[in-house]
Amino acid sequence: MKEDTLIEVQGLQKVYSGKRSLFTPSKKVTAVKDVSFSIRKGETFGLIGESGSGKTTVGRMILRLIEPTNGSIIYNGQSLRDLSNKEMTSLRKEIQIVFQDSGSAFNPRKTIGAQIAHPLKKFGENQDPQFIHQQVLKMLEVVGLRADFFHRYPHELSGGQRQRAGIARALILKPKFLVLDEPVAALDVSVKAQIINLLIDLQKEFQLTYLFIAHNLDLVAYFCNRVAVLSKGEVIETSSTIDLFNNPKHEMTKKLLSSILTLEGDLGEVYKKRSVI
Ligand SMILES: Nc1ncnc2c1ncn2[C@@H]1O[C@H](COP(=O)(O)OP(=O)(O)OP(=O)(O)O)[C@@H](O)[C@H]1O
Ligand SMILES: [Mg+2]
Repeated sequence: MKEDTLIEVQGLQKVYSGKRSLFTPSKKVTAVKDVSFSIRKGETFGLIGESGSGKTTVGRMILRLIEPTNGSIIYNGQSLRDLSNKEMTSLRKEIQIVFQDSGSAFNPRKTIGAQIAHPLKKFGENQDPQFIHQQVLKMLEVVGLRADFFHRYPHELSGGQRQRAGIARALILKPKFLVLDEPVAALDVSVKAQIINLLIDLQKEFQLTYLFIAHNLDLVAYFCNRVAVLSKGEVIETSSTIDLFNNPKHEMTKKLLSSILTLEGDLGEVYKKRSVI
C-alpha cells in the first residue's frame, strides 16, 4: 500500500441471499462481483454507474454496514474485515456516510439536533450534555443551518436543508473519510451546486477524503480527482477525471458522459467555470 493511500479495496464481492421471508425460496443476487480501487488521502474519488450497478453496496461494505462475501478493505494500513467489533467501533468515528435518501436517513420522530448529537452520544469521549449541545450548534453553523433548526423535525426541512443536516451528522465525530452516496441526486439543480460547494469547502477545512457515489458524470468533472466506472458489479474503467473525459474507453462510460450535455442552469455555469477539463 502506497503511503498516500487512505483506503484500498481489493476483489470486493457481495452476494445477497435474496431471502425476503421464511416462506419464499431464496434467490441469490450477486450485487458486486469484483471491485478494486484505492483512494488517496485528501482526494475525491468518484464511483459512478447506472442504477443497480452495486454502488451503494460497495459504499456500505466499506463502512461494514454490510458484510462482504469476499475481498479486502484496507484502511490506513489496517484490514477492516479483520478488526474486532471493539476495534471497529473506534474506527467508526473516522469513517462516516451521507446517505442517498435524506428523507429516510432521519427518524421522523426525533429532532434534527438530537439526531446530529446521536453519534457523539454513542461514540464521543466527552459526554457532558452542555458540550454535546454546543458541538451540535457549531456543526449546524458549519453546514449553513441556523441554530433554530436544532429543534425542528425532519419533515420541517427542505431536501437541501435535510442533506445539510445529514452532512452535519456525518461530520460531528470529526471523521477523516466520508462516503457520499448520491448526496445531491434528489435535489434541484441550484441546491445541488450549493451542497457540492459546501462539500468542497468542508473538504479543505477538515482535510477530508471523499468517496463520491453518483449515477452519472455531470458533477464528476467539477468535484472528483479520479473515477471508477461500475457496471453490473464490476469496475470497467478507472482513471483520472481528465483522462476519463478526454478519452473514455468503454461504451458505458461514453453513455454516462452524454448525460453531461443536458446540463442546464446554475450548475452548468458552475461546471463551466470550475471544470477541470
Ligand atoms: N438487501 C438486498 N437483498 C437482495 N438484493 C439486493 C439488496 N440490496 C441491493 N440488492 C440488489 O443489488 C444490486 C445492487 O444494488 P445497489 O443498491 O448497490 O445499487 P446502486 O448502484 O446503488 O443503485 P442506485 O443507483 O439505484 O442507488 C441491485 O440489483 C439490487 O436490487
Ligand atoms: Mg445506490
